[in-house]
Amino acid sequence: MFATKGLSKSFGRLTALLNVSFEVEEGEIFGIAGPNGAGKSTLFNVITGIYPPSSGRIFFRGKDITNYKPDQICHLGIARTFQIPTTFHTLSVYDNLRVGAIFGARRPQSADEVLELLGLEAVRHRPARNLDLYTTKLVMLGAALATDCKLLMLDEPMAGLSMAEINQFLEIVRRINQEKGVTIIIIEHLLDILISLTKRMLILSDGQVLYLGDSKEVTADRRVVEVYLGGKGGIAHAHR
Ligand SMILES: Nc1ncnc2c1ncn2[C@@H]1O[C@H](COP(=O)(O)OP(=O)(O)OP(=O)(O)O)[C@@H](O)[C@H]1O
Ligand SMILES: [Mg+2]
Repeated sequence: MFATKGLSKSFGRLTALLNVSFEVEEGEIFGIAGPNGAGKSTLFNVITGIYPPSSGRIFFRGKDITNYKPDQICHLGIARTFQIPTTFHTLSVYDNLRVGAIFGARRPQSADEVLELLGLEAVRHRPARNLDLYTTKLVMLGAALATDCKLLMLDEPMAGLSMAEINQFLEIVRRINQEKGVTIIIIEHLLDILISLTKRMLILSDGQVLYLGDSKEVTADRRVVEVYLGGKGGIAHAHR
């Protein structure tokens, strides 16, 4: 359904992504992990047209979408959330969802469906700026979902949440995947969460593919253990 081929991105002399290739199957939940600064968010930014890639191609449903603009990518059916919680803070919760529904899906009723799916009815009239972190993240997710996306990309959606909130959020992610049939790419640095949620994952390190394969086998991979999990410089020590 989705693929990158040899994707690279440099910012001046800094190489944020180098030759990254991976594929995502229709209907799957695909994981991305990697240390701080590995290039995870840059990968999302390049895929969603915020930055053009320095080289490489991006494919969605058989179409080469490299260099498409963010609005074109949205209209094709790809939506994303941001690592830093981002809403239209002067608008109500409901109007945030309506922005996604009207811009992305051109189907206003999509906002009501998402409001119900995410259980946001009780706060629908509240301004988005007055919400707790968990609800803010649900609103950002809801605006993305209301575009009627076929591929949903989530950038560390559970960072900063309590264990109980993480479990609720995971349940919602699974429902979006199973009930709405949305394919999901999720960035998450906690490997145990990613292993329980996904079948396959990609681990980036210094902008390059460190691991691509079965999520269950990731902790047995020698390079993953060396670079990402264990010892000095491993994620257990490095990640904030
Ligand atoms: N717009 C930009 N201009 C210059 N450098 C950038 C830009 N965006 C990202 N970078 C750099 O690219 C590298 C990768 O950053 P990126 O945000 O993609 O990492 P990440 O894997 O998402 O990290 P984190 O886990 O902290 O979110 C970093 O060195 C970062 O400083
Ligand atoms: Mg990031």
